[in-house]
Amino acid sequence: MAESRNLNILGIESSCDETSVAILVNDEVKANLISSQHFHKAFGGVVPELSSRAHLQMVKPLLESALKSANLNLNDIDLITATAGPGLIGALLVGLTFAKGLSYSLNKPFVAVNHIEGHIFSGFLMEQKPEFPMLVLVVSGGHTLLLYVESFTKIYLLGTTVDDAAGEAFDKVSKLLGFGYPGGPQIEASALKGNEKSIKFPVAELKDEYNFSFSGLKTSVLRYVQNNFPDRKIQESDLNNISASFQKALVDALVQKVNLALSNHKIKSLSLVGGVAANKKLRIELSNLSEKFKISCIIPSLEYCGDNAAMIALRGFQLYQAGITDSLSIMPYPAIPENHFIRI
Ligand code: KG4
Ligand code: ZN
Repeated sequence: MAESRNLNILGIESSCDETSVAILVNDEVKANLISSQHFHKAFGGVVPELSSRAHLQMVKPLLESALKSANLNLNDIDLITATAGPGLIGALLVGLTFAKGLSYSLNKPFVAVNHIEGHIFSGFLMEQKPEFPMLVLVVSGGHTLLLYVESFTKIYLLGTTVDDAAGEAFDKVSKLLGFGYPGGPQIEASALKGNEKSIKFPVAELKDEYNFSFSGLKTSVLRYVQNNFPDRKIQESDLNNISASFQKALVDALVQKVNLALSNHKIKSLSLVGGVAANKKLRIELSNLSEKFKISCIIPSLEYCGDNAAMIALRGFQLYQAGITDSLSIMPYPAIPENHFIRI
């Protein structure tokens, strides 16, 4: 069970195209090193086999550097945590197996962390901590989830995407406009120079009130490009207007559902997490919304929005404090296990 002395926690993240190693002392980050696999850009998306190989190359040097910057030796580590899923299976296997090996050889407890739970609680890495019950919007490359979080162990699912994830929509539209991968930052930069009211892209209205759908939005951007620029020669000013109008439609859809959830549930904190949480328009709109409801809004700093091992170590620490550890026989899993988050 919970120990009162300080714990040195090692976190390892390798679910997709970031290898990350972090060291925390309890919930305080001492090192959070991230190596991003930029070479995937040339392929327009993450190539799983190349990702696994890069994780294999990077994980040990990152561990050595993290220990050095935290001023610790491997023997000082008290708890080992790693992402077990969801993610690319070969990529996960590298970080998870490495962590299990350390746990075995150092004879230290091990906690396998769900990557999405890492994102959900990443607001707790900030100085101002969220308060329960909190409403969390997870927006990443693979997931879009709206969650009612009652405590560190009670997480309820209000809604999810029925097709593309929010980040996936950014990435697909980016490819369509010729910007490349990852799309979010490039669409955002282009949108800054455009007029978001220039084109009205529709967003699907779903019967299941908290669910999202972005594939129709992506298709309407495609139709707009096909109809207006059949030769695909698009001026920069038009590209900027398309980016801005697309970003507005997507952000409006997210904000609308968060607004609905805040109206229907008694919430103390709103938290926006995941890679797409780096988007400035989304950050501003959700923080304005939290002011309207007079609740706190916790959005992690950019370092903790994208994939990082600090959030994995922190989640591992929270579970360990709740008395949870994992056996070394645990295997990686590619998707969120069915009913992992209870639907309400
Ligand atoms: O959480 P994350 O780093 O990896 C996953 O677990 O998926 O999220 C990556 C996603 C990508 O789709 C990327 O395009 C998107 O986050 N993203 C953004 C921005 N920065 C990254 N989307 C919109 N605006 C941004 N500034
Ligand atoms: Zn992620």
